Amino acid sequence: MQNENAPAAAAPGFRRAGIHPRRKVGAERLPLPRFTRSMYSMFGLAIVEFGISVRLADVRTLTERTEMATLLRIDSSPIGEASISRELAAEFERIWRRANPDGRVIARDVTTTAIPTVTAAWVAAHYTPAESRAREQHELLRFTQEIAQELLDADEYVMGVPTHNWGPPASFKLWVDHFTSPFGPRLEGKRATFIITAGRSYGPGSGNEERRHVEPWLRTLFGGLGVADVHFVFVDATAQVFRGAVDRAEFLGPHVEVIHAMIPQAVPSG
Ligand SMILES: Cc1cc2nc3c(=O)[nH]c(=O)nc-3n(C[C@H](O)[C@H](O)[C@H](O)COP(=O)(O)O)c2cc1C
Repeated sequence: MQNENAPAAAAPGFRRAGIHPRRKVGAERLPLPRFTRSMYSMFGLAIVEFGISVRLADVRTLTERTEMATLLRIDSSPIGEASISRELAAEFERIWRRANPDGRVIARDVTTTAIPTVTAAWVAAHYTPAESRAREQHELLRFTQEIAQELLDADEYVMGVPTHNWGPPASFKLWVDHFTSPFGPRLEGKRATFIITAGRSYGPGSGNEERRHVEPWLRTLFGGLGVADVHFVFVDATAQVFRGAVDRAEFLGPHVEVIHAMIPQAVPSG
C-alpha cells in the first residue's frame, strides 16, 4: 500500500496531509481548426496572444454562490457499496459535516447521472454566445449549466476517482468534458480533495511508478480551471482487498487517518 499523503505516524517518511506545492497552470491555447477560429471571430470572441479570454456572457448566466459552506461530492466508481473510493469519500463527507454542521452537501454520482455525450450539436451550442443560442441549444446545454453551477456553488470538492485503464473512469471524463473549456466556470478559491484508487501497486519496485497518470491529469485539469488548493489521497493495491488477501478495515485505516487530518477541526482533541 502506498499513500504519499499518509500521516507521519501511520506511514513514516510520507508527506503529511496532502499538502502539495502550489503550481500555476497557465492558460493553454487550444489547437482550434481554422473554421472554428473563424466561428469565434464571427461571434466576437477575443483570442488574445497568450490565451483565450473567457466569454463573460456565459459566466454571467450562472448565479453567485451563497455564503453557506458547501461541499460538492463526486463519485465515479461503478461498483456501488463495494467501492473503496466511495467509502473514503463518504468518510470525508461524514467528517466534513461534523466540522460544518450548518453546511450543505451536493452529491453528484456521475455513474448514475445520464450525462449527454459530446456531439457536434453540443459543441456548436457551447461555442455559440448565450444570447444567440436557439431554444434547442439552450436545452442541449442544460446539464452543462447545471454541473457548472454545482462547481460554483461549492467551496470545497471531494472526488472519488478510481483508476480505469490508467486514466479516470469514462463517466468522470465525460462529466469533465462538459465544463472544461475556455467558456466553462472559473474555480479560483476552491479547495479540492481527490481520492484516487488503483488496483495495482504503484510503489517503488512495482514497475508502475511512472504510471500514476490520474493525479497529474487532475492537477493539470483543475489547475487550469483555477483550483490551486488541491489534495490527493492515493490508495493503490486495492486488488488485495478485493481478493480477500488483506482485511478491508485494516487496509483503509491509514487512509482514513489521512482524511481525518485534512479536516483538523473535526478530530476530537486528546
Ligand atoms: C474497467 C476497469 C479498469 C481498471 N483499470 C485499472 C488500471 O489501469 N490500473 C489499476 O491500477 N487498476 C485498474 N482497475 C482497478 C481499480 O482501479 C480498482 O479496483 C479500484 O479499487 C477501483 O476503485 P473503486 O474501488 O472505488 O471502484 C480497473 C478497474 C476497472 C473496473
